[in-house]
Order: sequence, then C-alpha cells, then structure tokens
Amino acid sequence: MAKLKIGICGWGNVATGLYEQLVSENEANANFEICCIGARRDNPICDPGSTKILRDIFAVVEEDIDVLVELIGGVETAKELITRALNSGKHVVTANKAVIFEHGEELIELAFKNKVQLLFESAVCAGTPAIKILSNDLIANKIFKVAGMLNGTTNFILSKMEEGASYESVLQEAQRKGYAEPDPSLDVNGTDAAHKIGILAALAFNSGLPSPNFYIEGIENIQTQDFTYANDFNMTVKHLAVAQLNENGVELRSHPVMLRKDSSLAGLKGVRNGIQFDTNLLGEFHIAGSGAGKESTASGLISDLFALSRYSKSPPMLYPDFSSKPPLQNFDDLIFKYYVYLEVKDEPGVLALISKIFADHTIGFDKVIQKDQLENNNVPVVIFTDPIVESEMQIALKALDSHQEVLNSKIIRIEDL
Ligand code: HSE
Repeated sequence: MAKLKIGICGWGNVATGLYEQLVSENEANANFEICCIGARRDNPICDPGSTKILRDIFAVVEEDIDVLVELIGGVETAKELITRALNSGKHVVTANKAVIFEHGEELIELAFKNKVQLLFESAVCAGTPAIKILSNDLIANKIFKVAGMLNGTTNFILSKMEEGASYESVLQEAQRKGYAEPDPSLDVNGTDAAHKIGILAALAFNSGLPSPNFYIEGIENIQTQDFTYANDFNMTVKHLAVAQLNENGVELRSHPVMLRKDSSLAGLKGVRNGIQFDTNLLGEFHIAGSGAGKESTASGLISDLFALSRYSKSPPMLYPDFSSKPPLQNFDDLIFKYYVYLEVKDEPGVLALISKIFADHTIGFDKVIQKDQLENNNVPVVIFTDPIVESEMQIALKALDSHQEVLNSKIIRIEDL
C-alpha cells in the first residue's frame, strides 16, 4: 500500500512532538512518509534531519502531499491554510479546537465539496480518544449529556493547588511542560474547554456547532482555601464543561464546579482529562487520559493519519447534521446547588443579616459554617445551599455585596455527577 505523504505546518511543541513520534520505531509509521515541514523558524528542541523545510507555510499546500497537518494554532491564518489545503484536494488533520469551533461547519463542508477529509481527533482531550469514539463507536446511542474535564492545564493547576501549591507557580510549570496554549489565558479562563464542549455537543447531539454565547468562567478566582472547605464535605474543585440536550434546547456551560470526591471525574489528577457521556444504551460511559502535552497530542494526530492511510471508500468519521440548530438554554434559568464563600466582619448580627438575605430570595441552607478569624480580623462564612435558580442566586449575591459587613463573596456551583 502506498505511504500517506504528510506535510506538517508549524514547528512548535506539538509539531516537533508529532515529528519525534513519526520517526520513532513504531509499526504504524510504516504507513507514513514525512515529505516537508512548513516552519517559519528552526526549533532548537528538534532536528528535522534532511526533511525539506519550507519557510512559507502556505507553500506546503503546493507540495506533493496527501495530507496537511495544521499545527500553527490561532484562528484566521489556520483557517486560510486549511481552506487552501482542502481546495487543493489535500486531506487536513488539525489539533486546533479554536478553528474547528469557530469555522468547523464551513471547513467540513469544503472538505465534502473537495472529496477529502478534515480530521481533528486531538482537538479535544489531545490523544485521549473522544471524537471518533463519539462519531463512530457511540453511533447507536442517543446521548443526553456530556460532562467533561476538558482542559489539561486547568486540571494540572487545580490538582497541585489542592496539594497546597500556588496558582502562579503551577501555571508556569504547566507552560514549561507544554500543556498550556501559547496564550495560557485561553486555558485558565475557560475558553479552551468551551471550544471543546462546543465541538463535542455538535457530535453528541448531531447538530450544528453552537454560537459562543454560553456561560464561560475560568479558574482565576479559585483559592487554596476552597479546596480546604470542599474537603470538609468530601468534595473537591474541578473545571467542568457540560452539554445537555432536553426539550428546551441545549444547555452549554464551562466553569469551575465542586464535585463529590467519589464521583467519576473527581479522582482524575494532573494533566488528565475525563468525560462522562450519559447515553441510552450504554448508560454512563467514561473516558479518561492525558489531555495535553506533545506526546498525548501526537497520539491523537497519528490516529487520524492512520485512519486516512486506511481510508478508501468509507470516511474515517461521520460528521453531524449542521442544519439542526437547537436553541441554547438561558444560563440564568438553570438550577444549581452552590458553595458560597463570604468574608464578613466579625460583628454581632452579621449571620442574621446573611440568613435574612438568603431567606428573602428563598435560598435554603444545606450547611453553614463560620470559620476561625482571619489575620485581618474578618471571618469566613461558608454556605452550601439547596437548589436555586441561577438568576435568584445572582440577585442574592448582589444584595449581600451591597452591605458593608460583607467584604468578599464568591460562589462555586455544585455538580452532581
Ligand atoms: N492547552 C490545552 C490543555 C492543550 O491544557 O488542555 C490540549 O488541548
């Protein structure tokens, strides 16, 4: 069988990681030939040997290749590169979730038109299989809900914070290890996980890619003390992205949550990602594995390349029906239980004030604890609430914040998995 001729575009952490795996001793590599690399500059961490180097990444499209592997990142230039490759009759493999989330429909339609494939296994969970499992192996299932820890960097940071490390030092470590995006704010502010859940939602619910107007919150305000208070109730803090389909449309969100420690995803530490699918035939189905880093991403990319090398008549994956556009549910209408952290003045009547505000908004307490005085003489009050609609909780928080006795407030939503 002829080898699949590959052109790699980009020469950063992920691209050099792919190259290293493609030239390593591995049976699958007999199927591939690396023809050229589009690299604007050399990378001291990897010697490409005698492989042809093109300084103009767009020149890779003109080479005698079967597939272009887009690893330049970003959105608009990547879109242009993928467009040109597809229009030139080349398959495209990409790890770029931002470009798939923002332009996936148009690019996949272009791939159809040109009778080539656009594959993106490593755009979600890096090498941990999720995309082709969802599009192929779960085909007989109706999927109701997808809940995923989809960002390796944030799980790495939260796991280390749980052990007492500081947010800043762990973020730098995640960057050194090659887990974070070139702009790490996309990891920590929840956007990267939002792109991934948007892609999974389209595949799971056989619908178009959602608009980005859903609730997205990052981990920037999570503090070590939140783990301590969560631990008192056998819970931990994670970042979760959720897609759920019901009669009112699609619920989509990406934000920190508190999870019971014995829940399916809570035990996943470090750079691991995990997804729970709620399905009709398999019930709860889980996947978990490394979600970032060059080795993991190379694993996902090579799975796509291998699928292409075997591709003759049947396509490697089934794409969703983009014409179906279920409405996005309003986040303010969703119902959660909440962890509420308040830093308040240590004065008589403050607990009564808090109780009154919660009662005024029909928010029930599940548990309330007043902790020891802080160094600044204020006291932390930690409340776990009964279920309440998001909009009502936001109004109650505003009411609390309007009192000078309340110095700080924060909520984390509690997820029952
Ligand atoms: N920066 C991403 C993460 C890489 O940390 O999950 C994999 O998509």
